[in-house]
Amino acid sequence: MIAPHGGTLVSRTVDSPESERALRDESKGLRSLTLTGRELNDLALIANGALSPLEGFMSRKDYESVVETMRLANGLPWSIPVVLGVTREEAPTPGTRAALYDGEGVLRGVIEVEEIYDYDKAREARNVYLTEDEKHPGVAALYERKDVLVGGPVRVFAREHDPENLSPSECRAEFERRGWKTIVGFQTRNPVHRAHEYIQKCALETVDGLLLHPLVGETKSDDIPAEVRMRCYRALLENYYPSNRVLLSTLQAAMRYAGPREAIFHAIMRKNHGCTHFIVGRDHAGVGSYYGTYDAQKMFDNFTPEELGIIPLKFENSFYCLRCEGMGSQKTCSHDPTHHVTLSGTQVREMLRAGQLPPQEFSRPEVAQILIEASRETATSA
Ligand code: ADX
Repeated sequence: MIAPHGGTLVSRTVDSPESERALRDESKGLRSLTLTGRELNDLALIANGALSPLEGFMSRKDYESVVETMRLANGLPWSIPVVLGVTREEAPTPGTRAALYDGEGVLRGVIEVEEIYDYDKAREARNVYLTEDEKHPGVAALYERKDVLVGGPVRVFAREHDPENLSPSECRAEFERRGWKTIVGFQTRNPVHRAHEYIQKCALETVDGLLLHPLVGETKSDDIPAEVRMRCYRALLENYYPSNRVLLSTLQAAMRYAGPREAIFHAIMRKNHGCTHFIVGRDHAGVGSYYGTYDAQKMFDNFTPEELGIIPLKFENSFYCLRCEGMGSQKTCSHDPTHHVTLSGTQVREMLRAGQLPPQEFSRPEVAQILIEASRETATSA
């Protein structure tokens, strides 16, 4: 089994009823902080070890180092800040603890406050997102973050077990049970269309198993909601994939749309889940036209294979070719693009809204049908 990033799989989940009771009692006397949806996503990932070796929200040293050099202060590759924002008034005193609540007032965990520090949002935007444009959804979320950061390790209360949201240790145990030695992880924030299916299956020809690992934390409002996507994934797997070669489980991460830097972050989280390989296709984690089509793939060249551990599997833009009568890419198909079935996200959304099935060369009908029903439901509830 592949080693977790940094060598040890972290768990910051409170693991006994006694410690839970003690922590709940203690938290009554602590300063309370209310986390945003994105921060709660990060908290859950720190708790279950998906962000190993992080044990909490980043201290200034790690934050600065990540923003400037794409490494933690100890030199380990790390591309995206994982931070907790507070206002100056809310900021707890270093050396104390603070209770962490969600937006509904539910106590989710406790942070040991090591440090409170200022940061430069514009610099983070430039370095991490390669733009300061507020129209970029990741940059917009960054600008909304509160003005100072709290660094320190956390302890988090356990959540109910969900068989479709496996922790890194649960994923690793399942891979072992299935006897898989090589596993390719697939990140997605979309329904799986034919191009996704094609690159997954190309990868699956050479490894033991596929972890279909959709990201289900916060996404931008025009992305398809996670529960609709889950229906699509289940229908697709049932009809087109061998069940003994695929595991479907969700990742509670927020989407940053940081393209190249996020691709590294995505790969590290999959490594922690036990994947040996990770698919990086065209414009991975991109949005609009902020990043070049293959910039996310090139980003992997900044690190040695040893320090990353997980192997990126890079795929060209894929499509169905009417002349080939099959899926392919520029690497495997010689025909003119006029023979290729490609649709933009906007075109697909318009077709679905009009109750029209996109061509089956683009999307499996079972998937498209679910998307049509979902877009009708949204239309009637709006
Ligand atoms: S992402 O934001 O999660 O990257 P999406 O769910 O569309 O968006 O992509 C999932 C993965 O499939 C990414 O690695 C992406 O690069 C890849 N991908 C998506 N569409 C294609 C395509 N037509 N050809 C090749 N790779 C693709």
